[in-house]
Amino acid sequence: MVEIEKSAARVAVIGTGAIGSAVVRRLLDGGHEVTVYNRTRSRAARLVAAGALRARSLREAVLSSPLVLLTLKDYAAVQQCLAHLDVDLSGRTIVGMYTGTAGEARQAAERVASLGARYVGAGIQVSPEVIGTDTATILYSGSRHAFEQHESVFELLGRPRLVGEAPEAAAVWDLALFGVWYDAQLGLLRALDTVREAGIDVEEFARTANTQLDHVVAAVPATVSEMLHASYPAGPANLTEHLAVVRHLVELRAGGRLGDGGLPEVAARIEALIAAGRGTEGLTAIVGRRSAG
Ligand SMILES: NC(=O)c1ccc[n+]([C@@H]2O[C@H](COP(=O)([O-])OP(=O)(O)OC[C@H]3O[C@@H](n4cnc5c(N)ncnc54)[C@H](OP(=O)(O)O)[C@@H]3O)[C@@H](O)[C@H]2O)c1
Repeated sequence: MVEIEKSAARVAVIGTGAIGSAVVRRLLDGGHEVTVYNRTRSRAARLVAAGALRARSLREAVLSSPLVLLTLKDYAAVQQCLAHLDVDLSGRTIVGMYTGTAGEARQAAERVASLGARYVGAGIQVSPEVIGTDTATILYSGSRHAFEQHESVFELLGRPRLVGEAPEAAAVWDLALFGVWYDAQLGLLRALDTVREAGIDVEEFARTANTQLDHVVAAVPATVSEMLHASYPAGPANLTEHLAVVRHLVELRAGGRLGDGGLPEVAARIEALIAAGRGTEGLTAIVGRRSAG
């Protein structure tokens, strides 16, 4: 343990792909002693030339430092690496820096705990070239103590943000953010596809699509407030009026290449609320807590 505290400036980075390489370069620039290990040895050569220390094995890399960053492709890769480690990792912090699910983060945390170390999950909301800049947001979750102990290292990579102490919180936050982008982008693509198929000028249409996206952005604070206070004012339309539009949209999207975006489930939810006498409420009511209907 004492040995670990003394070597606090050391960091091990397992996986020197695009993200891992950017992380290693940033840590070297920040004055850290960085040990690297990559499955494909040649892929770490430039980093070694830049000053990183090459570990001969995964085990040697992990044992070299109090802080170990797993900058790997996915959970399958993380799982394989963790499965190969049968050493006592007491006092170490292992950070899973990959895009994955909540369940995967929990399993990684369990495995790391069984080896005696603390797990921190990370959600990378950046591309490699942004790492180390002010605009880089990396989400972390898990042990607050471990996060705070290594925060100065995390700060070198971008703006660190501890989003929860559950190991999976960063994965949930990370994927939910990606979901916002996919839902908006796919909504736009569905609309463009539909109007083009109908022979409508796509560029003309797109100018009006902007307005709808702006409405969503402008309504974020009010939507969050409605959700948190379980208060659902109708706004420009109530649930009964929304249901009519949603049903028309389901018909318009029928047979579309990108599907209907889950609108039949939304319609069913609205119908249930209307049947419960809540047709005059606003759309946010559909995410009311189950116990509250
Ligand atoms: N790149 C981005 O812009 C970006 C943005 C946000 C999030 N992310 C996420 O960040 C993570 C890393 O992405 P990346 O772009 O760095 O990926 P990458 O360039 O493909 O690198 C993947 C790394 O994982 C290693 N790896 C893959 N399978 C392995 C296995 N079974 N055992 C051991 N090592 C294995 C690779 O080693 P080899 O060299 O031996 O193949 C390589 O070091 C991913 O989860 C990605 O979704 C990336």
